[in-house]
Amino acid sequence: MMESFYDITLNVHRYDPDTDKRWIDTYQVKAGRIMRFVDVLRKVNDEQDATLAWGSSCEHGQCGSCSMKINGKPLLSCELLVENAVHYFDTTTFTIEPLDVAPVIRDLVIDTDKAYGRVDKVKPYIIKPKPLGEKGEEHQISPEELERYVDATRCINCFCCASACISSHHNFLGPNAMLAAIVRVMDPREQEKQSRFDTLYSENGIYRCHSSQACSFVCPKEIDVAHFIALAKNGEIKPA
Ligand code: FES
Repeated sequence: MMESFYDITLNVHRYDPDTDKRWIDTYQVKAGRIMRFVDVLRKVNDEQDATLAWGSSCEHGQCGSCSMKINGKPLLSCELLVENAVHYFDTTTFTIEPLDVAPVIRDLVIDTDKAYGRVDKVKPYIIKPKPLGEKGEEHQISPEELERYVDATRCINCFCCASACISSHHNFLGPNAMLAAIVRVMDPREQEKQSRFDTLYSENGIYRCHSSQACSFVCPKEIDVAHFIALAKNGEIKPA
């Protein structure tokens, strides 16, 4: 029978930067079945503990700022419904931790400037755009060209893949940073390819990847990140 409410237990990892203390707090919450985890955390703030810090912005799966680990899996807390979590993890007890891709600022909030530092290294924008046509016509990308890399453009840099990646903690720039570089190599509007290859095949680049495919498994946007990294490893990422 479908439940209207679930009595759930949250074991939340806490961190206080003023005292440098870490501990776990447990909250019992009566949660509606279609509440999302951001709603549950807000309910905790409203009814039990206003000091619990966590982050979100769009709450529509588009900005990546609500990422956290729930029962060990990195995911977007604005997309996870209580009912789905109960069925997926087969429990009503959830351990909630911050992602481990950057230092924790407080509780579930991490230093995103530091996390983005890895993505910034690959210059996630077009460095040298292909010139417009003689009459200023915009450059057109054929559907065939676009098809090869359009999935990768859905990345929102939520860092779930980087958190799940077994190589991310060993100097690897991370799956999402690699994806940002690969997209621009495959984009026919980008003329600066060599510096991107230099980064991709650098000491901190794709050869750090152990092909665990954890990135593809956890990606909330369902991007097959490992596929794009494999294309780069095989030298198959030049524009069509
Ligand atoms: Fe934007 Fe969750 S708050 S993706």
